[in-house]
Amino acid sequence: MGLNACGIKSKYERQAFHASYVSLARRKMGLNACGIKSKHDSDAFEGVLVHMSKMLEKIRARARSLQKTIVFPEGEEPRTVQAAAVLRKEELAQPLLLGSPGKIREVAFETGTDLVGIQMVDPRESPKAGEYAAALCEIRKAKGMTEAEAAKLVSDPMYYGIMMVKMDEADGLVSGAVHTTGDMLRPALQIIKTRPGIKVVSSSFLMDCPNRDLGENGLLVYADCVVIPCPTAEELANIAVSAADTARTLCGIEEPRVAFLSFSTKGSAKHELVSKVQQAVAMAHELAPELLLDGEMQFDAALVPEVAAAKAPGSPVAGRANVLIFPDLQTGNIGYKITQRIGGAECFAVLQGLAKPCNDLSRGCSVEDIVNTAVFTAVQAQA
Ligand code: ACO
Repeated sequence: MGLNACGIKSKYERQAFHASYVSLARRKMGLNACGIKSKHDSDAFEGVLVHMSKMLEKIRARARSLQKTIVFPEGEEPRTVQAAAVLRKEELAQPLLLGSPGKIREVAFETGTDLVGIQMVDPRESPKAGEYAAALCEIRKAKGMTEAEAAKLVSDPMYYGIMMVKMDEADGLVSGAVHTTGDMLRPALQIIKTRPGIKVVSSSFLMDCPNRDLGENGLLVYADCVVIPCPTAEELANIAVSAADTARTLCGIEEPRVAFLSFSTKGSAKHELVSKVQQAVAMAHELAPELLLDGEMQFDAALVPEVAAAKAPGSPVAGRANVLIFPDLQTGNIGYKITQRIGGAECFAVLQGLAKPCNDLSRGCSVEDIVNTAVFTAVQAQA
């Protein structure tokens, strides 16, 4: 969070802002549930915030220099309207709200939000609707889509927004304050599809941990924690290559070191689940020969040098991994929540592998979450 970027100048404003940000982040992380009570713990926690705020500030600076157009299909939603105003005021991106301009202005009035410089498009009134419907029909005709169906779909802001990204009239899309992950992801998968060389769309969580000895100065990239319930070996290999790319392009990690996780380290256990991870490692080597990756290995072998020395000697990754590939969605989703709730990590999620970036929000998101996600999307659009 960039204090200067928020226009906060006096010492008093700075302190009040920091206190409210710390309190917000504590609530978001469920800090009381983590049992962090002592001054030492609290200092360590505030260290996480300062560290994460530095990373966010770097990402924001990159977004500011790019001035990407980010479309919001939930343009009538109050937090989204407010986030668009922050993006504009701080010059982080060019927000474009989809919806009825009358309704958006009403929401802006109710929330005291300034709409100056924010584009608004009503998909139901848009002169582009015919062109988008024809393009959508063409993209999905092999799946049996008719012109009438395509015309109906593009009047839906989600499809209209995805088509704007597809047709290069927006650089990326952010939604999820109202819709579910699937509501956005399904049309994005069907229309925008995957980027060249990557077969699946997946996700990465950027985990910023209080323990600076872990990963990249406390920063770890976890994948996949959102999208693919039961990945095949080939899908796991694709997830790993995408996560390494996210680590490099979004987090600025120059040397991604990718560990494929399992309950076994280097053949210590024999099981079909272990064999699948071993196959994934071999496939990832073929897909990205230049990438530092290894597995299968246990979580502690990936992160703790002493355990790595005993269990995976000579591994280029074990003991110092900064990108962790979970074997399936259950382990990935549970793993990130344990790191967040018990480990006290701050976390952010992004989708990866789409030909152009679309990102999902939690329905409980704050205005700040929407701003951050839009900023990540803008930087992904450049990569
Ligand atoms: N990558 C690339 N393409 C994909 C992927 C993928 N991961 N998954 C599906 N597709 C494609 C299919 O090939 C298909 O393309 P086509 O229509 O051109 O043939 C299209 O997308 C639709 O596929 P379906 O299988 O019909 O889509 P489905 O209804 O299964 O939805 C979805 C896909 C939404 C990603 C599904 O896998 C899903 O629900 N995943 C889990 C999401 C979830 O609940 N996450 C946890 C909660 S979020 C959180 O905790 C933060």
